[in-house]
Amino acid sequence: MYRIAPSLLSADFARLGEEVRDVIAAGADWIHFDVMDNHYVPNLTIGPLVCEAIRPHTTAPIDVHLMVKPVDRIVPDFAKAGANVITFHPEASEHVDRTLGLIRDAGCQAGLVFNPATPLDWMDHVMDKLDVVLLMSVNPGFGGQKFIPETLNKLRAARAKLDAYEERSGRRILLEIDGGVKTDNIAEIARAGADTFVAGSAVFGAGKASDPHRYDSILGALRAELATVRA
Ligand code: DX5
Ligand code: ZN
Repeated sequence: MYRIAPSLLSADFARLGEEVRDVIAAGADWIHFDVMDNHYVPNLTIGPLVCEAIRPHTTAPIDVHLMVKPVDRIVPDFAKAGANVITFHPEASEHVDRTLGLIRDAGCQAGLVFNPATPLDWMDHVMDKLDVVLLMSVNPGFGGQKFIPETLNKLRAARAKLDAYEERSGRRILLEIDGGVKTDNIAEIARAGADTFVAGSAVFGAGKASDPHRYDSILGALRAELATVRA
């Protein structure tokens, strides 16, 4: 019932294919793929070509987190490059409902991303088009930042909205959290309502690079924490 999605942002970019295979072999569920454009966020990362390059290395879902503006033009490119989930920031799209439709028409699951100060009501009138709601627990742009504690309240509020929606529609929308997730807070975050956990520096920064079991250890530790949570 819980998904762990290591963020490639903290992986070794010279060995991305191997990093993808190693974290999936160690028990990760999704690959989180952070796309930054030096415009919507103050950093520049990877695009569809890199998504296409890692696609043959795993059958696990690739979860593309678009931190770009504008959004729509790049959506079909990521779908063609093998993305399974595409999420974007509503402030970066002129027409949120249309962008969600574009993502789904391209054959992917669609999601909205909420920055720490973005109100949850952005989702209210598009819930039928959402597969994922992603709450940022840091400001987007960089790995290795500290989890913002107020996000726990926001998670509880999002959980209530998604549960109420599931009650009336019979459809479950995933609740993903991104930023500062570690072994010492993942259980608390799960108790606040998240079911899908992005972890960048916690996973790829774990242990010594010379230890071939470092990803097994960290993913095992994150799972062990999640196992203490009663849903
Ligand atoms: C930040 C990215 C995150 C980042 C998380 O803008 O969206 O996915 O990789 O990194 P950590 O887990 O190190 O906070
Ligand atoms: Zn992300």
